[in-house]
Amino acid sequence: MTKPTPPPPQVYLETYGCQMNIADTQTVTAVLRRAGYASVARPEDADIILINTCAIREHAEDRVIGRLSDLARLKRARPALKLGLLGCMAQHTRAALLEKAPWLDLVAGPDAYRRLPELLGHDGFDPAVDVRLDRGETYADISPEYAESVRAYVTAMRGCDRFCTFCVVPYVRGRERSVPPDAILREVRALAARGVKEIVLLGQTVNAYRFDATDFGALLRLVAGVEGVERIRFTSPHPCDMSDSVIDAMASEPKVQPYLHLPVQSGSDRVLAAMERGYTVEGYLDLVARLRQAIPAIALSTDLIVGFHGEAESDFMATLALMRAVGYDSAFSFKYSVREHTRAHRLGDSVSEAEKGRRLAEVIALQETISLERNRSLIGREFAVLVEGPARRGAGRLAGKTPQFKTAVFPGAAEIKAGDTVRLRVESATAHSLAGAVV
Ligand code: 5AD
Ligand code: SF4
Repeated sequence: MTKPTPPPPQVYLETYGCQMNIADTQTVTAVLRRAGYASVARPEDADIILINTCAIREHAEDRVIGRLSDLARLKRARPALKLGLLGCMAQHTRAALLEKAPWLDLVAGPDAYRRLPELLGHDGFDPAVDVRLDRGETYADISPEYAESVRAYVTAMRGCDRFCTFCVVPYVRGRERSVPPDAILREVRALAARGVKEIVLLGQTVNAYRFDATDFGALLRLVAGVEGVERIRFTSPHPCDMSDSVIDAMASEPKVQPYLHLPVQSGSDRVLAAMERGYTVEGYLDLVARLRQAIPAIALSTDLIVGFHGEAESDFMATLALMRAVGYDSAFSFKYSVREHTRAHRLGDSVSEAEKGRRLAEVIALQETISLERNRSLIGREFAVLVEGPARRGAGRLAGKTPQFKTAVFPGAAEIKAGDTVRLRVESATAHSLAGAVV
């Protein structure tokens, strides 16, 4: 009699942080699937729980520590359950982490995912730890398990060489490296064949992409050549890598959408210099002017940090002035969080928590006003909306994105399905979305 094969070990994966982490989780899922593991949707059903973590701000790490202690309760009830921590926080906090969460069975950094099956096989008293950074690792040969969606996020480059003084990314994700264009095109073709309409190319400084003679502008054109792909976006570019080649590709290739998330961080030259961002306010505004000249329909969003060490009230005022000068369509703003290992760590943290809170609230309020004004100016205009599915606040309405990446909602109809592009006339607007009717 043959013995029945044991069921595959069930893995539950949870992701914190940015799009890169979501994409990495899809790579991890693929690695584990190849090695015979199955995925489950609930931690209660899992033999192995893996959390992919973010280290960008202290708050992100605190959330994970909180979540880990919840999950530790499951492990106490079921000691055979394996609990692992992946990603940027694994890389960032290693030792401290094992002190705070001694029950962890596995700690694996962003370049260790290929070795996960091996690490999971490790049976011992001590946890399996692999936080080696590998400047060659791009996972180019591993096809991620993408979520079902009209949009897919495809990693174009990993790591970062910029070392902005506040940022932990270069330390936790390592040096910049680009995925070979043929590997990217292979993914994009497979996605298009499955009906994916929109490709978002990902990288920490995605427009610094270079593989041999292929720069990011050339990569955009290559992806645009794939039949079935209707829309192309990318995130996040660095202002200093916004070359003519990239701007030309955006301006001349209709599939590349008129939207750019262009992190500025601060509107004060003094703070930008302390952050070592590599541009001045004037240089950034010149770039915005060039972009608007080349791509008149372009929408812009940004990242802002308030309360960086040494940020005086006048510096903060300069940030508000810059926001008004650019007129961003949206902005993500954060209180400065001192990160160990970064160059700004030793400078200190001169702005109080309360003051950071006040500045953040002001930035958010100003952006609400600007976003609302900009969105209201679109009432009466028509946009091509790529339909994603039911609107979050339901009531038979559908939602999708305009080329400018604005959420648009409209009444559903039997013949309209996800993946279709409809023409929408905007009838009303909030700071965060447009509403209208199909024309
Ligand atoms: N504190 C606050 N915000 C940060 N960011 C990066 N590092 C920090 C930090 N130490 C923000 C930047 C970046 C975004 C992804 O996160 O604005 O663009
Ligand atoms: Fe961090 Fe600067 Fe690199 Fe962006 S460009 S990931 S902010 S170091």
